[in-house]
Amino acid sequence: MARCTQRQANMIAPVKRTVVLTVTVDDPEPAAIARAAQALRQGKLVAFPTETVYGLGANALDRVAVRAIFAAKGRPSDDPLIVHLASPEDLPVVASQMSREARLLATAFWPGPLTLVLPRNARVPLEVTAGLDSVAVRVPDHAIARALISAAAVPVAAPSANRFGHTSPTLAEHVLADLEGRVDLVLDGGPCRVGVESTVVDVSATPPRVLRPGGVSVEDLERVLGLELELGTTPGPARSPGLLARHYSPNAPLELYEGDADQVVEAMARRIRACVASGERVGVLASREDTVRLGLNPPPEGVQVADLGSEADPAGIARRLYSAMRRLDARGPDVILARTYGVQGVGLAIADRLRRAAARRRQVDPKA
Ligand code: TXA
Ligand code: MG
Repeated sequence: MARCTQRQANMIAPVKRTVVLTVTVDDPEPAAIARAAQALRQGKLVAFPTETVYGLGANALDRVAVRAIFAAKGRPSDDPLIVHLASPEDLPVVASQMSREARLLATAFWPGPLTLVLPRNARVPLEVTAGLDSVAVRVPDHAIARALISAAAVPVAAPSANRFGHTSPTLAEHVLADLEGRVDLVLDGGPCRVGVESTVVDVSATPPRVLRPGGVSVEDLERVLGLELELGTTPGPARSPGLLARHYSPNAPLELYEGDADQVVEAMARRIRACVASGERVGVLASREDTVRLGLNPPPEGVQVADLGSEADPAGIARRLYSAMRRLDARGPDVILARTYGVQGVGLAIADRLRRAAARRRQVDPKA
């Protein structure tokens, strides 16, 4: 049975009553799904789990409902949203044509953490696409998300369900921490499997351009297409706000270390010692290996460690990243230290998010 709790936010008006329905991936609770689907059809906001992060959904064909997404998040209206479909067969409802590259990628990676930027079908309101003639589309690989979209029988526009600029949510409690009282219903389906957002690819460009690295690696995209992809935003209006300089950020300033691995560890160890000496409270996002290298097991007084798991499991690091960031942030540290884990595979998405979350970046060069 779905567990239903009613929560009232202690936020400044306008305050909604946020209903939380607990569902499980194995058996997506038809009654809860039906209630959430009905809410979407009524123009309400429903947060739901996907394999990447939780989304803040609304009926993509209802421009009033879509405007409510921007208001709830505090998101500027010039940031286009991703439209989520239950099946690739529904694509003609929102996009007008598919290039050969688009078809190859959709066949290989849908359902999955890949978003394709395609020519917009005129039925999709310009509120969704921030006035662009293109529309970003994906089919999530998550039983609850697809059951919801399919029961609603409408395409679902959904950004990540966080306050604009803040760390993305990978648990329902993260959604509530940011948006309780601003969203009508939250489907709590437990933790997200991938943990970083979808890869956004503009397939209208030749060659296709990766606008945001994410859950599908650039190497896998290139293998399927048999060509090298461009990385970065397109000039002009088709920018990708997920690539904004300050995004995905915790409240405490995040200090990011990159460069030669040994020297990165040495620099972080020095910084931690300096914090301890000056009484600054420091949080460390650390791989299991770093926890040992940095001598943080157990951590000294004033140091909090969030375990990202082993470096041998980059997917695990991606899955734990946002949750670990939020956990550290909740302890109210003066600074959070982190490092990147290469730029291969999902390492590129991890590095991208950490760079955008960072208030300061320290490049540590290899020994001369
Ligand atoms: O994994 C994900 O993609 C999650 C889940 C909920 O599906 N969603 C997500 O949405 O991350 P959001 O709104 O946080 O990020 C959407 C990204 C932004 O970087 C946006 O600029 C880009 O997609 N985007 C959307 N429409 C676009 C378009 N027509 N052209 C270029 N970029 C677009
Ligand atoms: Mg986002």
